[in-house]
Amino acid sequence: MKALVTGANGQLGLELARLLPERGHEIVPLTRRELDVSDFAATEAALDAHSPDLVINAAAYTDVDGCETEGELSYSVNALGPANLARGCESRGVEIVHVSTNYVFDGEGGRPYEPFDPALPISAYGRGKLAGEELVMRLSTRWRVVRSAGVYGEGDNFVRTMLRVEAEMDKLKVKNDEYISPTYAKDLAEGVIEAVEEWTYGLYHVTNSGSCSWHEFAEEIFRIAGVAVEVEGIPGSEYPLPAARPANGVLSGLGSPKLRHWREALAEYMGREDREGEKT
Ligand SMILES: NC(=O)c1ccc[n+]([C@@H]2O[C@H](COP(=O)([O-])OP(=O)(O)OC[C@H]3O[C@@H](n4cnc5c(N)ncnc54)[C@H](OP(=O)(O)O)[C@@H]3O)[C@@H](O)[C@H]2O)c1
Repeated sequence: MKALVTGANGQLGLELARLLPERGHEIVPLTRRELDVSDFAATEAALDAHSPDLVINAAAYTDVDGCETEGELSYSVNALGPANLARGCESRGVEIVHVSTNYVFDGEGGRPYEPFDPALPISAYGRGKLAGEELVMRLSTRWRVVRSAGVYGEGDNFVRTMLRVEAEMDKLKVKNDEYISPTYAKDLAEGVIEAVEEWTYGLYHVTNSGSCSWHEFAEEIFRIAGVAVEVEGIPGSEYPLPAARPANGVLSGLGSPKLRHWREALAEYMGREDREGEKT
């Protein structure tokens, strides 16, 4: 298949750009500079120029707190962008995969969220991403929506932040009342490709398996790194942020491609980061 990937410089976009050719697919990776998905005319021109069989929308405005103040910008990228792509894909018979988030849920549920549980976002980011999903589903007949959570790869992410701040502090405080399934962007890319190759159109939850609090995630990062640092678990209320986050951000992979356990994926990622660091 010929796949056009938007947001190609992002954590997921970079992994898709590596993996799709390995799986025998042709790829057109477009960064934000090459295609701004919020620009309808530009999305039409890109689809005409490249004639893909499939569009994978990995572009997003992912600054969750920034979305609270950058309302117009974040909505135009996270809601209108996917709508532009879905319209363009539909009129050309092209399939679309749109990537979304666990932040479409309020996190008040007592079990992992299944794909068709009612979404009730509690942040501007979550509302924009939910609007994006719904627009894709309404404007296209050939859609797959893949939600993920706690993604880390080549970009600003929790793992890199923890290792950076650890060097500057003796003791860290990390939230212990907010749960996720940390997900390696490379594994997410594999799940997205599996969804395209082996699963029909539909709504999927793709995260590494297992779950933890951010505090447990931090402890595992330092265990793998061999760093002895005190990590105190604190309630989220002690660390207020502009955007609310779901307390239960764990997605059920019901009826979705399955990924390995998050601890195994994290160890591989950190090994790769070490090797890349040694090269530079
Ligand atoms: N990161 C997470 O924890 C997480 C969790 C759940 C779901 N997701 C979803 O997973 C997907 C991929 O996330 P990620 O972690 O790879 O995010 P990321 O690293 O922030 O990458 C997003 C990419 O989108 C690009 N972009 C921003 N505005 C754009 C626009 N108007 N047109 C085209 N591209 C634009 C960004 O370009 P610049 O860098 O140049 O701004 C960036 O390269 C997103 O849909 C996100 O909502 C992420």
